[in-house]
Amino acid sequence: MVGSTRAFGGVGAIRGYAHPISIARAVLEQLPQHCLLVGDGAELFADEQGFKRAELLTEESARLFRTSLSAAGGAGTGSVTPENEAYRATALELVRRLAPHDGPWGTVNVLALDRAGELVVAVSTSGFPWKYPGRVGDSALPGAGLYCDTRFGAAACTGRGELTMRVTGARMVVDGLAAGFDPVTSCRRMLNEAASLPDEFSSDVRALCLTPDGRHGAASLRPGATYAAMTETDDTPVLFEAALA
Ligand code: GLY
Repeated sequence: MVGSTRAFGGVGAIRGYAHPISIARAVLEQLPQHCLLVGDGAELFADEQGFKRAELLTEESARLFRTSLSAAGGAGTGSVTPENEAYRATALELVRRLAPHDGPWGTVNVLALDRAGELVVAVSTSGFPWKYPGRVGDSALPGAGLYCDTRFGAAACTGRGELTMRVTGARMVVDGLAAGFDPVTSCRRMLNEAASLPDEFSSDVRALCLTPDGRHGAASLRPGATYAAMTETDDTPVLFEAALA
């Protein structure tokens, strides 16, 4: 998303591309009549734009998948497809629990301010492990997982996307900046609103923001979250702690 124009490009529910963020950028730059493509149409667009397909399943991901599946009851003797009733029942149970395993999954937020004052934000995610097929998270949705307005700031979120969708989290953080709150307070206000909603799935939400004059801050519902910042004159990432909401 680009702050000066609030132009947005996104893709969702695509499989087998190493860098979906680049396809999202191509939507922004090459398909200005649309903002968001999902599923087969997004893959058609990616192929037309020359993006190469790639095998994304690593040995570690496959191991984590098998471990969660067997711990929850396995797939019986059948294959891991929705047609196998045993697998389908186990997979639905894992979706119902929404208890993601530890391991390599999650969301990346990048916020940038250039010398001319342009603010941009980009978010990429695998989404949660064990989600219902077709589930799109907040990362692809302007206002929820990301938002950017050059007058006030840029914001992005990680964690339980369904909560940031329900409060339009990133937009709420930018609205906080517009109202004069500092970056950490703007993030905290949104997180406290999200945490006040009824939600039986206990999971973290984090928010990060950057102002047009280069101030930044982050907050998290749980302790221990960090983010990194770099400047034009020093490209060594410096680690900051996110405030507790
Ligand atoms: N925030 C990423 C997701 O909900 O999938």
